Order: sequence, then structure tokens, then C-alpha cells
Amino acid sequence: SGFPADRLRETQTFGDGLGFDSLMLTDLFAGLTRKLPGLTMDPTWFTATATVGDVITYVSGQFTDTPAAATPAPTLTPEPRSTTVTPEYRISDFAEVRAIEDRLSGAAGLGLSNPYFLINDGVTRDTSIIDGNPVVNFSSYNYLGLSGHPAVVAAVQDAVARYGSSVSASRLLSGEKPVHRELEAELAALLGTEDAIALVGGHSTNVTIIGHLVGPEDLVIHDSLAHDSILQGCKLSGATRRPFPHNDHNALDRLLTEIRHQYRRVLILIEGVYSQDGDIPALPAIIEIKKKHQALLMIDEAHSVGVLGATGGGIGEYFGVDRSDVELWSGTMSKALAGCGGYVAGSAELIRYLKYTTPGFVYSVGITPMNAAASLAAMREMRADPTPLDRLRRNSQLFLRLAREAGINTGDSENTPVIPCIVGDSLKTLKLSNALLSRGINVNPILYPAVPEDLARLRFFITACHSEDQIYDTVKILAEELALLSEE
Ligand SMILES: Cc1ncc(COP(=O)(O)O)c(C=O)c1O
Repeated sequence: SGFPADRLRETQTFGDGLGFDSLMLTDLFAGLTRKLPGLTMDPTWFTATATVGDVITYVSGQFTDTPAAATPAPTLTPEPRSTTVTPEYRISDFAEVRAIEDRLSGAAGLGLSNPYFLINDGVTRDTSIIDGNPVVNFSSYNYLGLSGHPAVVAAVQDAVARYGSSVSASRLLSGEKPVHRELEAELAALLGTEDAIALVGGHSTNVTIIGHLVGPEDLVIHDSLAHDSILQGCKLSGATRRPFPHNDHNALDRLLTEIRHQYRRVLILIEGVYSQDGDIPALPAIIEIKKKHQALLMIDEAHSVGVLGATGGGIGEYFGVDRSDVELWSGTMSKALAGCGGYVAGSAELIRYLKYTTPGFVYSVGITPMNAAASLAAMREMRADPTPLDRLRRNSQLFLRLAREAGINTGDSENTPVIPCIVGDSLKTLKLSNALLSRGINVNPILYPAVPEDLARLRFFITACHSEDQIYDTVKILAEELALLSEE
């Protein structure tokens, strides 16, 4: 976690005191059981309110004959115990597999239909087709409506006719197509950087790039609401990982003041728009902090590219920052850019290094011609016609205003098309999503453990395709269903 041992106090809690998230607690247990063979840790015993002293007592209690409570300090060099591990060789016996089965049958037992893996037929824009019925759709991030746009469809058809459906090789080894170079030049132009690299997946881009740039001597310090792909990248890298409280750049500054000196490289990771809360970080302040502490900055623009900024150039354009102040402008092309794949934009030197060495690029096939062509065409379309960007902004503002007027808890969402309706109870959220679907509105529930239970929510993705009428109707129906729910 990066805390110097002499700064730890037995009274500190793991949650508020040390800022651990649940993954860090799991890592702590794994680390302790590795270091202390024979130790058994029952994860359910610990929550974020457990203190350092609780863990010391729990652990040392297993390595001494005296009662745990009477043990003042742990003995951290126990003799290994001989243990017999029960083999698990049937998938259906895995506790985690059973847990999923139980959750699914639990929801069915309550008479609620499963909101996941609904088949959405047709092109997903303002509407999609579920079970043969058109529904107004707020569950997809086709922000500008460019997926399914005629210019994008034509570009995709042309690309598959020219280059086939696969580039059939790593780009390093004969998989490079002209459309790859055009896509990367367009990304660099949009983001105001020297160059860019495109990879096959958004999630895997974060994993492979973060995993590759930093290592065990380094620190990754990220917003506490960071996307899973960022956490997985940190894990792969072996770097120390520390979350800072969501959108609290003063806390980031304080943490770095405390621990920066222990690390070779420090990578600060933030997002352009937070995908659950729809809020925007104070980028200029974070740039000041990264300079002060000699850190690197990477911004995941999954939900801000093609969304923020006058021409869709993302959070950098929104704040008008100097592009060279951020080392890695990364993101995914699966949202506003109507394709599938991830990218990093930055200096020519960085991109050259990444292209020759990143495992997920060098040892993976090049992005398909269709996907490269889709996002290339989407960016060109965005440049040629700014009206969808303008409509996206107006629709987002309208939805937020109406929702607030109706007393709906939209959290910190501001100036973005990601608008939560925080219900604060997973079961009620699930019921609300079922009720809305039965009234022709598709919006996904985000439940515990994806968010804390008291922040369970519906998450609305607004798009440029929605009409004002659809937005008025939806907020009205949402308010009605919320009122019904509160009467239960
Ligand atoms: C912030 C963030 N980063 C990365 C990703 C992964 O992108 P993709 O779905 O294109 O793999 C997502 C997707 O939801 C995201 O929200």
C-alpha cells in the first residue's frame, strides 16, 4: 500500500484510516498467507472498519500458544506448519461459481427477471429491440449515434472488401494496413499529440500498457473509482497501488507528499469522465500536482473522447490544457468512436517504444480493418458535422435538469451524458429497472458489489439520438416508479 511501516498505528482502520479498497484487503490477505505459511485468513472476518491491530491480533493468535488477545505484538517469523490443502477439481465446487449460481437463482426466486444479457436487436441508438419490442434505450454508450451511421457503415464495408475481415498477423509482423496508420494519425490529430497507437480492446489496452510501463519499484496512484481495467493493469505490473478519494486532488497531493520518495516512477491514473458517476476531474489542478511530485499522468478517456470539448477532443480540449503535460492520453474506441479497440496517444518517442515492446500489441493481432475503419470514419464524421456533439450536450443538460427538478438523486453528475439515479438499495434498484423495462425503457441497474450498497443505482447513458420527448417521458416515468417504490 505504500505506507512506511513506522507510520502504521494499530488503531488505524483499513477503510477510512488507510484508504484500502476491497481488492487491497484481498491482496493483503494473500500477501500475509504467502509470507506466513500455515496462516488461515477468513476474509469475512475483515471489513474496511477492521484496524491494523485487529489483523495483528488475528494473525499472531495463530502462531502462539497464548490467547490472541494477550499478544501485544506479532511474531512474524513463525515456523511453517505442515498443512494439507483440499484439492478442488470440479468447477461446480468452486465457491465463486456457486456464489453466481446462488445470486441468479435468488433473483429469480423473488420473481425478478434477470436484467443481464438481454438480447438487444437492431442498431442500438435511442431505441433498441428487446423480445421483439422497441424500447427507449439508455443502456448503451453510442453517444453520438455514430455506430450505425451511414458514413461509418460504408467505411466498414469498404474496409472489409479491401483488407478482409482480419489482418491475420501482429502489426509488427506483416499485419500493418494503411487503415491502421490513418486511424492513428486521426487519433493524434483529435488529441493534439505527436502520435498514437491503436490496440484491439479498450480493457486490454489499460491492462497491457499499465502492466508494461511500471513495475515493482513503482507506484500507481489512482482515483478510488478507477475502472477495473486500471486495477488489473496495476496488478499485472507488480507496482504498489494506492487509491486516492474520488476526485479529491488535495488528497492526492497529500498522499504524494507522504510517499513519493519511496518510488522510482509514479503513475497517476484518472479518467476523463467517471463511468458510474458522470463527473469530471479537475485536470489543471492534477497537472500541477503531477509536476510538483515528478509523476507521470495517464487519463483514461473512455467516456470523454467524442463527448467533452468543442470538437470532441475530450477532457484536454474541455480544459484547454497543454497536451504535452499529460504523458498518456488513452481511451477506448467502443463508445463515442463507434468501433472496438483501445488507444494511447502521446509523444512520438512513447508511441514508438510502445509499438515495439508492449506485449498486448506485439504478441496480438492488429485491430481488425472494420474496427479501424469504423473509428476513423467516426472521427471524420465528428469533424465534418458538429451537430451530434451539440445535441448530446443539450440532451444531457435537459435530462439532468428534469431529473433534479423531479427530486431524483443524480449524485455528482455534471456536464456529461452519464447520469445516475441513485436508489441506495440493490433490490429496489433491480425492481426499478424491471418496472421501467415493462414500461418500454431500458436502463441497466448497477448493483453491489459493482458499487457500495448505499449507492446502488440505475445508470442512464444519454445520446445525441434521443429526442426531447423521450427524455421528458423517461424522467416522468422514472419519478412515478420511484414514488411507487418508496411506498413499498
Ligand atoms: C473507464 C473505462 N475504461 C476502459 C473501458 C474498457 O473499454 P472496452 O469496453 O472498449 O474494452 C471501459 C468500458 O466500459 C471504461 O468505462
